[in-house]
Amino acid sequence: MTDMVTLAELGGPLAALGGAAYARHAHPAAYWSTIGLPLSVARLLASYSSAMDACGLTVEPSRWRALAVRATTRREVRPVPPRRGVIRPNSTGFRVRLRLAPGQEPADVAASAERLRHAWGVHAVYVRDVKPGVVELRLVGYDVLRKVRMPRRVDGGLLRVPVALREDATAFVRDYRAVPHGLVLGATLSGKSMYQRHLIAGLATQPVALVGIDCKRGVELAPFAPRLSALATDPDEAAELLPVLVKEMEDRYDLIKARQGIAPGTPDEEITSDVWGLPESERPVPIVLFVDEVAELFLVATRKDEERRDEMVTHLIRLAQLGRAAGIYLEVCGQRFGAELGKGATMLRAQLTGRVCHRVNDEASAKMALGDIASEAVYAACSIAPELPGLAVAGDTSGGWSRIRTPYLSLADAAAVCRESAHLAPDVPALSPFRPYVPPVPVAASGTAAAPRPVTE
Ligand SMILES: Nc1ncnc2c1ncn2[C@@H]1O[C@H](COP(=O)(O)OP(=O)(O)OP(=O)(O)O)[C@@H](O)[C@H]1O
Ligand SMILES: [Mg+2]
Repeated sequence: MTDMVTLAELGGPLAALGGAAYARHAHPAAYWSTIGLPLSVARLLASYSSAMDACGLTVEPSRWRALAVRATTRREVRPVPPRRGVIRPNSTGFRVRLRLAPGQEPADVAASAERLRHAWGVHAVYVRDVKPGVVELRLVGYDVLRKVRMPRRVDGGLLRVPVALREDATAFVRDYRAVPHGLVLGATLSGKSMYQRHLIAGLATQPVALVGIDCKRGVELAPFAPRLSALATDPDEAAELLPVLVKEMEDRYDLIKARQGIAPGTPDEEITSDVWGLPESERPVPIVLFVDEVAELFLVATRKDEERRDEMVTHLIRLAQLGRAAGIYLEVCGQRFGAELGKGATMLRAQLTGRVCHRVNDEASAKMALGDIASEAVYAACSIAPELPGLAVAGDTSGGWSRIRTPYLSLADAAAVCRESAHLAPDVPALSPFRPYVPPVPVAASGTAAAPRPVTE
């Protein structure tokens, strides 16, 4: 009887513990909101001073403070931690601002991030410089990249696409106006086309002309044909399309030049050196060129093809060099992109500022994408597991980098977005000969008319 009572007494708490452990693994977001967040906040509040002290982030109190403490409480005067702001919880973690003491810098707090994460039982701690003297600690409760859910509110806008989630639970936004050209590298099945798919689906609803070069006979980009202004599916077609894009770019430069020389008395603010300074009525639509499997454009089988290849590469380099001011942007995908591809490869790569490196097979490939950004970024890219396709390391122009992962988007859903936004495809006359053929969608027959009727006598 006593055994039965003990079992019943223990059974409840054990089941609750088991349930919590299961929820933590299977539904980390729900676990965080219900159990993880209150626990971590309680730990932070209880151990804030001692954790800061252990991390060496406390300072000696000012003389006035020491005197006041002695006079009022007779307690021992302790070192003071950075002043803490309010805790702001969210669905993936919480944020808290700290006012640094004189003599401290954000790097001191960042160096202790790993220790703070263990002290407060969270998945990761990130430190952001808010303004002089203030840093923000962003605590993330669980591994948000395992099952990606994009934040609900993200600053969108023209030529800005929230394409993936960063490991600190903020959105990674591909902003073409800030970083005009991008390079996406990764081994096969690493998630490059998924990344590109998100970009196309994101840009499809904006007034932007989308152009594709997909040398895999169009298998990746052809489903988006209704929204594409031009599509080349093999190197021959690409060789015809690229000079047209270069000509379009030159025409746009002529337009800008004409505007600059309108009249001697043109006000300063109307003089422009790129398409964005043109009045909206005259501004040509931005063009984003997607190139999937770029190496296919470089590889040649015969000597005859070599000339064509050199021409194509030169056109691509010119687009990358001069395209931004004319509103032409490049997004280049490939498995490797090194000097072994031949003349012009490294020159083109140097023009592609935005770097995203998915899982790679060797360190050399990661170096091609991230070597000139940071050596730690190269190591991070080399350690991406194959079980997590879509996981990548993204570098930015400032030398910083972060791990990102795209959410899953099926090809059918992305194609549906393109079909629905087909009417938004801008008219770029120069590209109309390259507009892909879109077979008409069969109209579904209405139920009653098509329903078979039994034949009766
Ligand atoms: N973020 C993601 N979440 C879940 N699955 C993903 C993600 N990204 C990619 N995948 C899956 O991984 C597989 C490979 O993705 P994808 O086709 O984008 O790779 P790739 O790098 O373009 O490969 P290839 O070089 O062969 O074209 C696909 O089945 C895709 O559904
Ligand atoms: Mg692909």
